[in-house]
Amino acid sequence: MAGGITQTEYWNGEVGTRWARNQAVLDAVFAPLTEALFARAGLRSGASVLDIGCGSGATTLEAARRVGAAGRVTGADISAPLLAVARGRGGEAPGGAPVTFLEADVEQADLGSFDAALSRFGVMFFPESPRAFGNIRRMLRPGGQLTFLCWRSLPENLWVQVPREAVIPLLPEVPPPPAPDTPGPFRFADAEALGALLRSAGFGTVACEPVDRDVVLGRGETDAEAAGAAAHVALNLGPSSHLVRQAEPDLRARAEAAVTEALRRHASGGTVALRAACWLVQAG
Ligand SMILES: C[S@@+](CC[C@H](N)C(=O)[O-])C[C@H]1O[C@@H](n2cnc3c(N)ncnc32)[C@H](O)[C@@H]1O
Repeated sequence: MAGGITQTEYWNGEVGTRWARNQAVLDAVFAPLTEALFARAGLRSGASVLDIGCGSGATTLEAARRVGAAGRVTGADISAPLLAVARGRGGEAPGGAPVTFLEADVEQADLGSFDAALSRFGVMFFPESPRAFGNIRRMLRPGGQLTFLCWRSLPENLWVQVPREAVIPLLPEVPPPPAPDTPGPFRFADAEALGALLRSAGFGTVACEPVDRDVVLGRGETDAEAAGAAAHVALNLGPSSHLVRQAEPDLRARAEAAVTEALRRHASGGTVALRAACWLVQAG
């Protein structure tokens, strides 16, 4: 549940629509992390690949390019608006593997068998993680590897923490931290617990490597313009956006001003870049 609604409702509602509208922005922000994901996944030519929580399909299409025409790639997600964007990009992988986008809950659906599975931030939202990772394990052929990115802790992720710290003092009350082991972006910050979870789901080997990258939240002709663009990303798309999602226009305007000012302090040469801290996980 996210704020009293199911994950399916969440990713098919306003959040999914907003992500869908901003697909290009998000793909640009995540680009350095995507590179790390594929470098680690080491997809071989001709492989069949499952992209878990594929969203608007950037990583699905990149997988298709990497495995080539002899491969096969399936992107699975529960969000109809994000899948609509993904399907609309179908022609973006010339010479690549055929791609299928499926509306499916990876926690329980049987989507066939695959040589590899991957995910860019799509595995932290299962209501029952042991069941979901067990299901993913079953869909992997012998020797198949699951490779995914998830966030480390909130304080390590300055791209989320800096806007959050600017907004919190404006709110009538500080939002409570999420209950442990519930769907959410920082759920797998504890690598030891994550490793134990993956092993209990049937994975024999698990490696969690820290990956830190500066992600570009905004660019502009001036630092002020870059900070404005970065504030838009932080307040509409990033994990701090829930703080002001239901806010009255006045509070929202004050939050935008405060976040822009905070991000302006991190702008240089027309770019706002802040550290993103992830686990790059591989399990087989
Ligand atoms: C943070 S977004 C990441 C999307 C995409 N991988 C990207 O990097 O742009 C998380 C995605 O996981 C999807 N998701 C959440 N629970 C899911 C489930 N049980 N099965 C499949 N997809 C799920 C959401 O709909 C959403 O698209």
